[in-house]
Amino acid sequence: MKIVLAYSGGLDTTVAIRWLKETFNANVITVTVDVGQKDNFEDIEKRAYIAGALKHYTIDAKKEFAENFISYAIKMNALYEDVYPLSTALARPLIAQKVVEIAKKENAEYIAHGSTSKGNDQVRFDLAVKALYPEAKIIAPARIWNMTREKEIEFAKERGIPIKTESSKYSIDENLWGRSIEGDDISDPSKEVPEDAFEWTKKRNSGKLTLSIEFNQGIPVSVNNEKVDLVKLIQLLNDLVGSYGFGRVEHLENRVVGFKSREVYEVPAALVLINSHKDLEKTVYSPLELRFKKMIDAQWSDLVYQGLWFEPLRETLQLAGDNLNKWVSGEVKVEIEGNGMRILGRSSKYSPFSEKVASYNKGWYPTDEMARGFIEIYGMHSLLTRQVRE
Ligand code: ARG
Ligand code: SIN
Repeated sequence: MKIVLAYSGGLDTTVAIRWLKETFNANVITVTVDVGQKDNFEDIEKRAYIAGALKHYTIDAKKEFAENFISYAIKMNALYEDVYPLSTALARPLIAQKVVEIAKKENAEYIAHGSTSKGNDQVRFDLAVKALYPEAKIIAPARIWNMTREKEIEFAKERGIPIKTESSKYSIDENLWGRSIEGDDISDPSKEVPEDAFEWTKKRNSGKLTLSIEFNQGIPVSVNNEKVDLVKLIQLLNDLVGSYGFGRVEHLENRVVGFKSREVYEVPAALVLINSHKDLEKTVYSPLELRFKKMIDAQWSDLVYQGLWFEPLRETLQLAGDNLNKWVSGEVKVEIEGNGMRILGRSSKYSPFSEKVASYNKGWYPTDEMARGFIEIYGMHSLLTRQVRE
């Protein structure tokens, strides 16, 4: 029996290697997908072998993550329940896809992941695997083994398996698009989030930071007039903007599995880019396009959050998003101060804004007669409806 395990290097999946091996008398192949988490991939590989893996793969998927997943999160202003940029949710289908590729290559019938039965991630992993490799059988050890964190540590110690000593008391998931923190002292939503939960947004710089971000067809292409590829641009913004203490999201979130959970995120680049992109959309779209886009953005974000990346509607929504984003080119200037962000200005060659039309001091004014005629007809529906109800 051959099992391919999505391996993060953390406590749960490290214990899972040995548990799978012992429980099913199986050969375990581990796959670690680099989606921009700040990890030491050599250490992870070593840990996999010590824990009992037969073979290990490390796959660099940062570029794919940025180009095929994050780029759409920007184009679709992806914010679940208006605040969470979907960092964890977006990476899951890509990780599953890479694990499936290895499973097929290795002729493995079994795929395993470390998600629990209480989370969203199990839904995302399971559904992605079912879509890409319907014949595969899924094993989620944490849904079966009934071990607490302490039991897991004991299990590892008894077998001489090293676990990350700096292993945090929180449950953390990290990638290029953000850092998700949950559990322990964060769980009680009535209490302030302790400062030790944060890492990317520890304040190292005070004062104000000004940035100009250029977009081409909805995709950010330069920061302060320096062209950089999307992976680097996101890394650069996370480091720079995070150092001013910007990018914290505190959320009482409605999970797919039916309950509310306190979740905390560090997402500096995601928030700067989505807010700037939204502003540029407002600059170039017709009012009807803007209203329509808001609806499809929300629907796209819900699908991705809910583990439905492979639902056909997602692509249809994206096609509409691509078509509208053809016009989202231009520059947005922003100011960052602490955890606050302000738009200073924007410009685009596709902006229908006309100084001549909008200005009070020069150019065009409708005549009194035009204004009266417009208001008369414009208000007719409402006034007639009111009258019959009096
Ligand atoms: N609640 C977030 C989501 O569903 C974050 C999940 C974080 N996952 C984790 N393994 N710590 O996308
Ligand atoms: C998990 O329970 O596996 C992580 C949290 C989540 O998926 O929401």
